[in-house]
Amino acid sequence: MAFVGWRYQPNLRHTLGVKLKASVPPPRRVKASLMWPFALVLTFILTAFVATAYFLQVQERDRALAERVAAVAKLVDQKLDKDTHLMRAVLLAMQGNIAIAAAFGSQDRAALLREADPLFQILHAEHRITHLYFNSPELVNLVRLHSPEQFGDAITRTTTIQARSQNASVHGLELGALGTLTLRLVAPWQSAQGLLGYVEMGEEIGHLVNEIHETLAVDLFVLVDKQFLPAQQWHQGLALLKRQGNWDHFAQQVLVAQTRVPAPVAIDDAMLTALRGGANQVFSQDDKTLHLAMLPLDDASGRRIGDLVVMRDISGLQQTFQRSIVTVTLLSSLVGTFVLWLFYFALDRVERDYQRQHDLEHQLLRLGTEHARILQTEKLSALGTMVGEIAHQLNNPLVGVVNLAQLAVREADDPVRTRELLAEIRRAGEDCHTFITSMLRFAKVSKFECHAIDMAQVVNETVLMFRQTVQGRIPVELNFPKTSVVLEVDPILLRHALFNLLINAAQATEGEGAIVISLQAQSHPDTGAPGWALTVRDHGRGIAPEILDKVFSPFFTTRREGTGLGLSVVQHVALLHQGFVSVENLSEGGTQFAIWLPQTNPKLNHDAQDTGRR
Ligand SMILES: Nc1ncnc2c1ncn2[C@@H]1O[C@H](COP(=O)(O)OP(=O)(O)O)[C@@H](O)[C@H]1O
Ligand SMILES: [Mg+2]
Repeated sequence: MAFVGWRYQPNLRHTLGVKLKASVPPPRRVKASLMWPFALVLTFILTAFVATAYFLQVQERDRALAERVAAVAKLVDQKLDKDTHLMRAVLLAMQGNIAIAAAFGSQDRAALLREADPLFQILHAEHRITHLYFNSPELVNLVRLHSPEQFGDAITRTTTIQARSQNASVHGLELGALGTLTLRLVAPWQSAQGLLGYVEMGEEIGHLVNEIHETLAVDLFVLVDKQFLPAQQWHQGLALLKRQGNWDHFAQQVLVAQTRVPAPVAIDDAMLTALRGGANQVFSQDDKTLHLAMLPLDDASGRRIGDLVVMRDISGLQQTFQRSIVTVTLLSSLVGTFVLWLFYFALDRVERDYQRQHDLEHQLLRLGTEHARILQTEKLSALGTMVGEIAHQLNNPLVGVVNLAQLAVREADDPVRTRELLAEIRRAGEDCHTFITSMLRFAKVSKFECHAIDMAQVVNETVLMFRQTVQGRIPVELNFPKTSVVLEVDPILLRHALFNLLINAAQATEGEGAIVISLQAQSHPDTGAPGWALTVRDHGRGIAPEILDKVFSPFFTTRREGTGLGLSVVQHVALLHQGFVSVENLSEGGTQFAIWLPQTNPKLNHDAQDTGRR
């Protein structure tokens, strides 16, 4: 493994050159981009809901109204049928009256008047029968019980003509001469002698309209087309029946019967045309909501002679309708607002999370940049210190050399003194050389190549080198585990580090004390990772507590001839191996340095040879 550790630097130019703005994009505006589309969609859904509810309500209301109009149509038919049955029963009963039959058979007008009048009075009073005719087989009027002074005219009404042609009773609505709409029944009177003539009975439908009003609580307006009713006759009828009306109120039609006087002003020609087209009409008048529908009015011959306008007060229905629409709208708005608020709340949280994340990224980047800047500054200041130290270390001997050389020039006549001075100059030169050698050794650390090696071998080689270098016999003891310990290390760097520790130990040892090198298994104090501690213990003077934390700083030395680089190298080598170095003063005197190295390949420890153990 090759690793250029000492010169390794993060790419500062790259790190410092990064622009903060460009690298951290602004946080997304989630709320602004999602809120409006969501609000629009929600509004659309709720509007659709309210509209559907409205149309369903309208349908329900119209169905209720249509049902009422159908009920009116049915009741009109039922009443007409019922009254027709009554009239038919009366006619049958009358045919059993011998006196009336005799008078009719002999066409005795006076006798007929006398005999039939009491019956007519009862029918008029009790059953609202308004007309009773006796006509000859030739359809010439014999007697009008309701208008006795009028007689002798030919009857040409459809019902009478049909009764003769069909020789059967015929009934139906017919417009009277005065513009009154009458339900008529005409029946032939057959006797043993043959056909006596035709009896005709009728009732005005005014009371029928009132009865329907009372039963179904609707107002009715009976309109007749003007083409079937001359104006003069209508006016005549108005005067005779003491009624009120305006011929010109409608262009095409005229009112002949009604339950409410006067008719609402809103009912005009346009509305009638619309009603005839089958549409329903709703309008408001005097704080009331009124609904209009129209039924056709056919006479006995099947012609549509007019219309029956049905009007119903639907104020209550309309109020309920409006109230339910307002409730639905309010509820929808409330639900919509609530959902919108929930959504807003959720988006707000998302956006805040985004913002927080963005701020963190920003801070991280800022810290990174700051860190790189500090590193750069530290390196520059370390470089400055180093240059200063080197200059200082080299300057002293060089100044000495210059001074000594000047002295030598001056005292060149004295060969003994000159030799002394030259010896001094040589020593100063050697000091420079020693310093430069240690600097070069320091620089070697830049190359880092690891491979598996038995630690005992590394230690033995270093001790050998140490013995050759150090004069005087300082005993070195080794304390190693029984099995070999094989680790992935750079043996050159590790030897270098261990050598520095041994030299320091030797320099600190004043008396007889031995140097002890041990290797023992030890897990990392912080991470708990398995590893080994290589320790060097001496019995020297120890390190003053106040400088204990400075000994690893580059160029820190307490020795006159020291460079202060030895322990820096040790620390750097330990770090290159993912380890660390520690120092402690021992209670029994002396110092212990320990290099902790991680366990790299446990399998190798058992296979490796048991070498270098003493
Ligand atoms: N074993 C030791 N016992 C006492 N002091 C030591 C020991 N090792 C190092 N030191 C102290 O640490 C200083 C720095 O050591 P080092 O970095 O090797 O530089 P140098 O040996 O050039 O002084 C030494 O000057 C010395 O004061
Ligand atoms: Mg040293």
